[in-house]
Amino acid sequence: MGTRYDEIAALDEVYHLPTYARKPVLFVRGDGMRLVDDEGRPYLDFVAGIGAANLGHAHPAVAAAVARQMNTLVHVSNLYHVEHRAVLAERLSSLAGGGWKTFFCNSGTEAIEGAIKLARRWGKARRGDSCFHIVAAERSFHGRTFAALSATGQASKQDAFAPLLPGFSHVPLNDIAALEAAVTPDTCAVLLEPVQGEGGVYPCTEAYLAAARRICDEREVLLIFDEVQTGFFRTGSPFAWQGYGVRPDVMTLAKALANGLPAGAVLAGGSAAEAFAPGDHGSTFGGGPVIAAAALATIKALEIGRLGENAAATGEALRIALGELAAHTGAIAEVRGRGLMIAIELVEPRAQEVAMTCLEQGVVINAIGDRILRFLPPLVCTTDETAILLDTLEAILGAA
Ligand SMILES: Cc1ncc(COP(=O)(O)O)c(C=O)c1O
Repeated sequence: MGTRYDEIAALDEVYHLPTYARKPVLFVRGDGMRLVDDEGRPYLDFVAGIGAANLGHAHPAVAAAVARQMNTLVHVSNLYHVEHRAVLAERLSSLAGGGWKTFFCNSGTEAIEGAIKLARRWGKARRGDSCFHIVAAERSFHGRTFAALSATGQASKQDAFAPLLPGFSHVPLNDIAALEAAVTPDTCAVLLEPVQGEGGVYPCTEAYLAAARRICDEREVLLIFDEVQTGFFRTGSPFAWQGYGVRPDVMTLAKALANGLPAGAVLAGGSAAEAFAPGDHGSTFGGGPVIAAAALATIKALEIGRLGENAAATGEALRIALGELAAHTGAIAEVRGRGLMIAIELVEPRAQEVAMTCLEQGVVINAIGDRILRFLPPLVCTTDETAILLDTLEAILGAA
């Protein structure tokens, strides 16, 4: 008799469009860092739904907030005030140092769409119709809808869908001269991930983000940070830019905003916050009562648990230990990251095979391409748990 996994995998095969090559496992429960599959096998999760479950799985405070709101009021639309939405916008603003206004949507790609529309609206109002160009980074990832895909700096994800939206150019990350050269009077915004996530965990240098801020100020261009993956204490501070000390004009959020429920947001400050007028943008579900209640509970629990401090400390210890693993196995070419957003680059093109062996041994990690392994655990991750990751990697890489 087949397992529940076999049944579900067979249904997937027949009824899902094949946009994902799924891993051979069926997770049915979770609790903090732990996942359990359909046969009761436990796993340690270093992926957290691609950096979305920052509090860990099945967090009781989020579950209670959602259940309470489900029994009270689920949906009225953005035509009306919603109490949790307004309170959440205030919380996000204060988490980011104050002075922000928010538009709520449902995902990261939607947040990027909103930020791009806002930047174009802002640019055209300032310098006329030709001011709609956006400079982004090579290897960046901003989402799969058309504007977000056009902003993404990865030909492999774009080429099959050309023609894309006009007005995007891409520069090498951390190359200040290239950014200087790319920003023209027709540029309305520079769009950057403070740490590139899907591209393989490449942090911006401090000098680069400071230069991006200076260039945008000098030339009157909006600086947009895509914090979809770096946000909500993943790199230690509430948002990664706070760790760099470089404040953007606009930032996009999603993933961990509601600890894994679909939520996104665009935050704008200064003149960018004046760009939109009623009717310019919208969303049926964005910032709905249930999601807003979940997000408020998420932020509160992240703060009470001081999980930003844990992300910084545990992340630092893990990077040091991975550096030692690199030195004594010779199998790791580079260790990169900030906080609990970490990748190792393997010397050999074994990333997919290593990730699969880890999964078989109960450790869930993510492979990007042939050589990169990424670790994005829930921020409750402890050094006892990273020790298990390190032992598992050592056994696999050391045995090569
Ligand atoms: C930095 C960044 N921006 C945007 C997105 C798109 O988010 P979503 O998958 O929620 O549309 C992602 C997703 O991985 C991301 O990492």
